[in-house]
Amino acid sequence: MKKYFSFIITLLLIINTDIFSSDAVSCGSSDIHVFDPIGNKAVTSFDNESPMIALTFDDGPSDRATDEILDVLEKYNARATFFVLGSNVEKYEDKLERAVRLKCEIGNHTYDHKKLSKLTEKEIEYQIKSTEDSIFKACGIVPELIRPPYGIHNSKTMKICNSPVILWSVDTLDWKNRDPYAIVDTVLSKASAGDIILMHDIYPTTAEACRTIIPKLISMGFQLVTVSELMSARGYTVVSGQAVVSVR
Ligand code: NI
Repeated sequence: MKKYFSFIITLLLIINTDIFSSDAVSCGSSDIHVFDPIGNKAVTSFDNESPMIALTFDDGPSDRATDEILDVLEKYNARATFFVLGSNVEKYEDKLERAVRLKCEIGNHTYDHKKLSKLTEKEIEYQIKSTEDSIFKACGIVPELIRPPYGIHNSKTMKICNSPVILWSVDTLDWKNRDPYAIVDTVLSKASAGDIILMHDIYPTTAEACRTIIPKLISMGFQLVTVSELMSARGYTVVSGQAVVSVR
């Protein structure tokens, strides 16, 4: 493991019976394409040495915030990761397709947001597989990452999901405060390089906050990349059974 010590990947500790992760980490090469936020033009690679942040949006797509957030990402040539619900993908395939066109990443957030730890093996399989199918039908992509609802996972659910579990290091609590000023303040005061930031693209207040957050983070020198790009840039390929909260 010593060769990985130049970077730190933060893993969840086993604190209670519902939360589990192993610490398996493997090094991976990257073929990364991202937009240059300074020159505002497309480039084929970004500066691995410069700070990066991964914005993530859960529970969509929706007709309340997804397009508004994509508008801001598009305007500033930034990217984000959307952890979508299969039930919403079926309603808003066009929004998912647009996110993919803008080089955003799509992750699996289950079909209808149940606590996986409360489900049977078959029910968990359905939650994951039906969402994969919905995503593939909408945009031709098979998601590689999973974020379980509420971040709740254990050894059983991890095994069945058979994907890396992506959690977060900065929680905006946007679902609770519904306050764009509070969301902006949380992100700008807490976010640092390697953070994975949790928001939800189902609240207009979150979309409003993004109109400030995205240009401000870019002006602070952060490259806004997808979760997979963040991990690749730092030389990590996460494996199934691993939970990631940030990549530094
Ligand atoms: Ni959720």
